[in-house]
Amino acid sequence: MRVVQIAARCAGVVRCLGGWQMLLTHERGRPERRTSPCSRPLRARDRWLFGSHFGALAAADGQTVGPYTNHILVTTWHICAYVVFCTYIEDSMRRIETKQLVIRDFDAMDWDAINTILSNPFVTEHMHYAAWNEAQRREWFDWCLTNNHELQPDVYNWAIVEKTSMHTIGWFGIGAASHPTIEGERSFGYFLAQDRWGRGYMTEALNAILEYEFTTLGATYISATCRTVNPASASVMEKAGMHHIKIGRDDDGNGNDVECHFYSIYNPYAKR
Ligand SMILES: CC(C)(COP(=O)(O)OP(=O)(O)OC[C@H]1O[C@@H](n2cnc3c(N)ncnc32)[C@H](O)[C@@H]1OP(=O)(O)O)[C@@H](O)C(=O)NCCC(=O)NCCS
Repeated sequence: MRVVQIAARCAGVVRCLGGWQMLLTHERGRPERRTSPCSRPLRARDRWLFGSHFGALAAADGQTVGPYTNHILVTTWHICAYVVFCTYIEDSMRRIETKQLVIRDFDAMDWDAINTILSNPFVTEHMHYAAWNEAQRREWFDWCLTNNHELQPDVYNWAIVEKTSMHTIGWFGIGAASHPTIEGERSFGYFLAQDRWGRGYMTEALNAILEYEFTTLGATYISATCRTVNPASASVMEKAGMHHIKIGRDDDGNGNDVECHFYSIYNPYAKR
């Protein structure tokens, strides 16, 4: 998605610069130039865009626009098309904004930040990522990107971006629960760079993503677990309004049976 966006921007900028450069270098108003190959008949869309001003210009020119006017028309149409296209691309990227964060689709450019965060053993202490090497992290990261490019992905992999620095500071993944207790159950996981802990960021992110899941995606029930030795994570889920179901045993993702808190929340907007 990012590649398309950058390509579109570059193409748009080059096209606009090219168009305006041609304008600046053309001999303006020279009658003989009116017969150049750049001249063309006025089109209905030109009249619609420019109204009477160019309509009058063209009328004086026997319904043919000269190179100067032609370049204005063509360049302006390209700018319009470019703006519409960029707006479409921007709109197709999922994005949530909170007071302190931008939460958006994972992007290829997030790799360095995510790899650095996951290389910190304090971050991964209570997560299955602790046992992974860089190649495994990369494989997972690439899978996240591929999955995000689906129009309706199974799993949403969100990058958490700090507004003040615009740095990618964490990840939030949410998708179909691997062991659902009810139909349509979704489950999540998250991590944040250690130097950003304790600022309320993950609670803010969780609140926003729960809202998105319930209102935009229509999720019915969302659950998550965290190890009992990870009180910060339990606190995040409590503060976001999730209900403590039980303490039980769960797989830590690497085949180890560990003691966990189980939390869940029903869609508060759904009629039940
Ligand atoms: C868990 C994690 C995401 C929390 O992110 P965060 O942005 O620091 O969370 P918040 O600031 O929104 O809230 C953390 C809460 O936990 C509390 N907390 C932190 N350490 C705690 C501890 N040892 N005991 C009890 N509470 C603790 C904080 O005081 C805070 O609550 P408060 O706002 O009432 O003071 C972050 O610590 C992290 O990335 N940890 C490593 C990865 C991880 O464990 N992921 C979860 C796997 S289930």
